[in-house]
Amino acid sequence: MKVVAGNTSPILASRIAKLTGLKLAKTTFKKFPDGEIYVRVEDWDGVNVVVQSLSSNESIVSLMLLLDALNDTEIILVIPYMGYARQDKMFNKGEAVSIRALAKLLESYASKILTVNIHSKDAAKHFRKLINIDAMPTIGKHFENQDVVMLSPDYGSYERVKVAAKVANCEFDYLEKNRIDAETVEIAPKKLNVEGRDVVIVDDIISTGGTIVEAAKVLLSNGAKSVKAVCVHAVLANYALNKLQNVGVEVIATDTIERIVSKISVAELIANSIDQIT
Ligand code: R5P
Repeated sequence: MKVVAGNTSPILASRIAKLTGLKLAKTTFKKFPDGEIYVRVEDWDGVNVVVQSLSSNESIVSLMLLLDALNDTEIILVIPYMGYARQDKMFNKGEAVSIRALAKLLESYASKILTVNIHSKDAAKHFRKLINIDAMPTIGKHFENQDVVMLSPDYGSYERVKVAAKVANCEFDYLEKNRIDAETVEIAPKKLNVEGRDVVIVDDIISTGGTIVEAAKVLLSNGAKSVKAVCVHAVLANYALNKLQNVGVEVIATDTIERIVSKISVAELIANSIDQIT
């Protein structure tokens, strides 16, 4: 069995290889002048653990080619960040259900698919071979016994923050939106007072950063000492990191998408899951 690193997850793949004691296969990724991608895998094995985050359109094409190169082998697919999972149903007639299209492609190659905090239960339902790993305990461990308050940006993600906060052994709450009048919406923690506290906002994805920027402004104006934003998937689209830094928010993420802010690794979680299924 070998680990095959996709071009979006080379660091995480080598961490997984180290923890599982598996060797990394040699891969080559190239781009032709017209933008087309070339992929080659040398010294693969009978069973291959392919690690590739789907954080861009190009990453999907690269993965497709990687899977084709390994077509005659058994493939355990690790997709640390499952892109396209937000379009998990048909919201308007005639729309593509993006995650369904992706699921069909991935399932046609893989014997098992491992992912981390897929966006929704509805997205997961399009897969038959999916193992959805929760990174919240690992995020909680990063803040273990620190004097922080953990907040989820809304009630919908309260369960997630609860898991992280229980491991961190800290107080937790969620931000509630209250409509004051037609033009004013007030955001505030449901029960906790954040004055003088170090606050950690926990979310699954930071994409544009809009959710966190809005929350951070409120928390800082309510007297919070500091605001950190921690997420599983640092999508960080449209200069999100700059926007967050401009309002004084430090961002911490896992390595499901490899970024400068990836200070927490999900490698151990994935390695344990691989050990369990092999
Ligand atoms: C929403 O369902 C997610 O949990 C995140 O809160 C959302 O994707 C964040 O998006 P943005 O960073 O663009 O506000």
